[in-house]
Amino acid sequence: MRSTVLVATLAAGASMFAYSAQAEGNLNLICSADVVLCEQMKNMFEKETNIQVNMVRLSSGETYAKVRAEARNPKTDIWWAGTGDPHMQAASEGLTLEYKSPMLAELNDWAIKQAESSGFRTVGVYAGALGWGYNTELLAKKNLQPPKCWADLLDPGLKGEIQMANPNSSGTAYTALATLVQIMGEDKAFEYLKKLNANISQYTKSGSAPVKSAARGENAIGIVFMHDAVSMTAEGFPIVSVGPCEGTGYEIGSMSIIKGARNLENAKKWYDWALKADVQSTMKDAKSFQLPSNKNAEVPKESPRFEDIKLIDYDFKTYGDPEKRKQILERWDREIGASAN
Ligand code: F6P
Repeated sequence: MRSTVLVATLAAGASMFAYSAQAEGNLNLICSADVVLCEQMKNMFEKETNIQVNMVRLSSGETYAKVRAEARNPKTDIWWAGTGDPHMQAASEGLTLEYKSPMLAELNDWAIKQAESSGFRTVGVYAGALGWGYNTELLAKKNLQPPKCWADLLDPGLKGEIQMANPNSSGTAYTALATLVQIMGEDKAFEYLKKLNANISQYTKSGSAPVKSAARGENAIGIVFMHDAVSMTAEGFPIVSVGPCEGTGYEIGSMSIIKGARNLENAKKWYDWALKADVQSTMKDAKSFQLPSNKNAEVPKESPRFEDIKLIDYDFKTYGDPEKRKQILERWDREIGASAN
């Protein structure tokens, strides 16, 4: 008798638990940051809200393509992180939803500007400058000087030693392409990229992969966001990060709610939550060292600071335009991608 009561009580408890675990519903999230950070954010949010997050990690350009392809029947509720340009492109095509978070007042100007210029269809979640990371041991072994400037990457001694991502899939590589076009002018930038192509061993899908393979000693240099090079240094690899001497571009990593999101209330909950100072302060625990968008979030000591880097006045309006994207990527495919190794 006592055991029957116990079983019944346990069963009731279990079903109550099952009920509460499902009570807050689901959230379909695409995460375009590093997968370790994506997992950490998902787990924290699930614990705090009881909302089940179905998360996939996709690069920024891949996500933009998926969101476009699913425009009539969206499978995604929210797109968190990834470079700002494709978020802006999605915004200008009306693929993302206008939302003014109550958290906007806590954000840095650059993050608010991103929201304003997209008609509040996206918002800045972090920022970081483009550069590269090099493997000190590999360069020393090959008797090569550490590259300080974009021009140094054309050194014939670096043949097969550099990786960067493909700008179609990767927001990092799109930022690199747009940066070079802004520094040199379009024709000169493509001449530069053709010469650089001789030194590139591989165009990867994801933006941070080039410096991860440099950390493993597969190639000497990865053209990446500087914070991705720093995270390899923090992991204990012999990687040094560089902000190029001629100047460089940067990203405003962004977040957007997908228009037609089936779990809209939960998407808004994630949106407000991800802009909180204490949430952004935990990014460093995943060895992610971007500059957080909330003014009150902790800036990790490892983060490359904008004051120390020669930044260009990156034109987010022009390079966040879908037509510009199409034009420079078609040219990249024709002139670089087609002859890539
Ligand atoms: O690894 C983190 C990160 O560099 C982010 O700062 C950036 O938004 C994202 O990756 C870009 O990834 P991808 O180049 O693969 O789109």
